[in-house]
Amino acid sequence: MRKITMQEVEQHNTPEDCWVVINGKVYDLSIFQKGHPGGSTIITENAGKDVSNLFNAVHPKDIVQKLLSPEACLGALDETTLDPEKHVVAAEEKAPSRGLQQATASAATTDQQVQPWEKPPIDAMLNFFDFESVAARTMTEEGWGYYSSGADDEITLRENHTAFQRIWFKPRILVNVKDIDMTTSILGVRSSLPLYFSATALAKLAHDDGELAISRAAANTGVIYMLPTLSSYTLDEMLEAREPDQVQFAQLYVNAKRERTEEYVQRLESGGAKALFVTVDAPQLGRREKDMRNKFTKNADVQKGDEVNRSEGVARAISEFIDPSLCWDDITWLKSITKLPIILKGVGCGLDTVMAYQMGCAGVVLSNHGGRQLDTARSGIEILPEANDALAKHDSNWRSTFEVYVDGGIRRGSDIFKALALGATAVGIGRPVLYSLASYGQPGVEKLCSLFKDELSMVMRLMGTPAIADISEDHVLYNNLMTHIPAQARDHLQLDIYEPLRPAAKI
Ligand code: LAC
Repeated sequence: MRKITMQEVEQHNTPEDCWVVINGKVYDLSIFQKGHPGGSTIITENAGKDVSNLFNAVHPKDIVQKLLSPEACLGALDETTLDPEKHVVAAEEKAPSRGLQQATASAATTDQQVQPWEKPPIDAMLNFFDFESVAARTMTEEGWGYYSSGADDEITLRENHTAFQRIWFKPRILVNVKDIDMTTSILGVRSSLPLYFSATALAKLAHDDGELAISRAAANTGVIYMLPTLSSYTLDEMLEAREPDQVQFAQLYVNAKRERTEEYVQRLESGGAKALFVTVDAPQLGRREKDMRNKFTKNADVQKGDEVNRSEGVARAISEFIDPSLCWDDITWLKSITKLPIILKGVGCGLDTVMAYQMGCAGVVLSNHGGRQLDTARSGIEILPEANDALAKHDSNWRSTFEVYVDGGIRRGSDIFKALALGATAVGIGRPVLYSLASYGQPGVEKLCSLFKDELSMVMRLMGTPAIADISEDHVLYNNLMTHIPAQARDHLQLDIYEPLRPAAKI
């Protein structure tokens, strides 16, 4: 590999001719920089420099290899020519989040003086929403905007949780509920709860320990973590974080370059991942306007006449990996390249559930991608009865080889119970993990899990169902689930922390 001096790198310091150093290698990013999540300015402003600190703050070390064609790497930096003071760009200062600014502003208007916001101790966390409220105030604008945003008007985002409130309980009494057993099996793997940590992108936006902390929290709490394809740490780092007897599943975004997917799946398989959850609801990433507006307001440099693409946010750069041509035929190909069970993540109706079953998949996740894709798509919990009925019509014995999971809007132990009652094997959670990680790191995720355990065990006791196998459709009323009639009590916790979309101009 050619050795390149810093003096040579420095010559290429314009948007049209943009060289940078990332982790000891020199790259020509003249084309790539247009798709970078921080926008083109973040790179063009630092053209001709060592930008490792900016990249490593969010991305895994192997992202440039994954993203760029091999010819973009021009050679290795001659480290002896590097002057850290002059050439190395420092990591960005973490800007206070919008939540923090709002809290400060409202304190100022009510009390006529600014009350500094104090982060509550972890023991003050009583439920998921507590973590969300801390995350809203402690995360960067960029991170909060990316995680909290949903597609378009965010109707599906809110519906995901609200749908659970249209299911009501029919408790049974005088059952011996002294001992409650929440353990279950997911794809044959033991889990301490009927819940798994779903794959979510770029966990370093929440915390420097990112996916490694999530994996360790999963091990300590006995639940399964689905490793994300679009992670902040490398696949090897995530696999190495595994405890000796821990099981990890993996998510898969299929790459347009199929050989890259084949190689990735082989690495997963040899690295010990036990199931492949193929994301099928994101041939294009949805329009998440909080994420997009952040980029517009933070990175647009109108003075300089920079071209700003308003359709881009954090989501844009990582979507380069995703192949929109993925179709049912590719499931046959996927099955031919791996022995791992294949589960389709992001199924939205009974017909596709049956298709997945017919194609020999091991299961589906009924999901709308956390309300981040198709707005007014139904919630996973609403689709569940339709999926069960379609499967039962097709093959009354479907449960012997196939499992159905639900994700989206799971905020309480009672939500887990309801999903199980309607036939799900387990539920996935995404944002709850990210928000608890953002608030308190790995202990936050563990605390969240213990709260879900407390809530679920209480519900199981009050419902007269001491074991997971006791939970059945007879325990719930759900005839209103599909009607979308919002006649219910106001959900203060959800609605008060929910951050409404903002128009460009204040009115
Ligand atoms: C998202 C993708 C990357 O929702 O999963 O942002």
